[in-house]
Amino acid sequence: MAQYAAMRSIGAYVPKKVLSNSDLEKMVDTTDEWIIKRTGIKERHIAAKHESTSDMGAKAASLAIERSGIAKEDIDLVLCATVTPDYFNMPSTACIISKKLDITNVQAFDISAACSGFVYLLSIAKAFIESGMKKNILIIGAEKFSSIVDYTDRATCILFGDGAGAAIISATSDKKESIVDIHASADGTYADFLVTPAPGSVNPANQKMLDEKLNFVQMKGNETFKLAVKTLTQDVIEILESNNLQASDIPHFVPHQANYRIIKAVGDSLGMTKEQVVLTVDKYGNTSAASIPMAINDIYESGRLKEGDLMLLDTFGGGLTWASALLPFAGKTK
Ligand code: UT7
Repeated sequence: MAQYAAMRSIGAYVPKKVLSNSDLEKMVDTTDEWIIKRTGIKERHIAAKHESTSDMGAKAASLAIERSGIAKEDIDLVLCATVTPDYFNMPSTACIISKKLDITNVQAFDISAACSGFVYLLSIAKAFIESGMKKNILIIGAEKFSSIVDYTDRATCILFGDGAGAAIISATSDKKESIVDIHASADGTYADFLVTPAPGSVNPANQKMLDEKLNFVQMKGNETFKLAVKTLTQDVIEILESNNLQASDIPHFVPHQANYRIIKAVGDSLGMTKEQVVLTVDKYGNTSAASIPMAINDIYESGRLKEGDLMLLDTFGGGLTWASALLPFAGKTK
């Protein structure tokens, strides 16, 4: 019998500390008004000093496991998407999260696809399940982006926040519960649009890295903005067309939360109403791989997401990478 992949649950973790626009006014030459007008962001959450990416990922994952009703002993793959891993080389953050959750002796690994990480993980989970190799997969998007942000650079420090989101993807024989479709792509031509130059094999950790602040994220904001609007819109048009759907068929459009102006431009050009578009960028900022699952968790917790509701995920990030996914929420809802 054919085996399909279904999203059974969602969970998220938001660190306690809030970094508001007025806090940032005291740190760099910016204003609350500028940040809101250009990005829509009012505040973002920042992890505590002792709190790592895996700590946040494990908390989001615990919630997702609990809400799925699936025993953690039945999880057979743990995947984490992050560009702010606990350790840059090894061990993977997925291994550390597995240990924190006491899920050992199962395959676990990280992927790096920046803001597209969670949707990339969905495509991997779908393939593992449809091939019959796995049954219950824990996927996590977690970022301590504050660890790679230069809080003297006003062009980037206003944008990013920390957090984590997770989901359980399980095998089902019921096609109605299945992830419908995923389109994922990348183009390294634009690798320099969003980059953390060090540490790595190109620029190993050294004094130069610290002196030149190469360990912090660098972004070509304008160029990234334009390409984001174009790609996110095109992505949705393609996935809807190939599944014979219209924008009006989608109750929950969940775009990557980078900038309100990007989301509005994409939503408007697709003819989406305000009610269809999920918006969290105002309170979390851009949390990279955690952005999409944190947004899904928001509509789950508010009661807006109902069992079987169709979601359209749409994301874009460093690499450059982009991806869209069409899926029903196949878990219990409030
Ligand atoms: O998640 C991955 C994808 N990332 C993104 O999608 C981010 C995409 N980019 C953006 O969201 C926007 O480009 C930014 C929010 C980063 C910047 O907004 P913008 O409207 O593109 O501003 P800009 O870079 O064109 O800068 C306009 C002006 C400049 O001053 P001048 O040269 O006109 O005098 C900047 O120096 O705004 C200045 N500026 C600021 N002013 C106050 C830049 N950052 C700030 C700031 N506060 N924080």
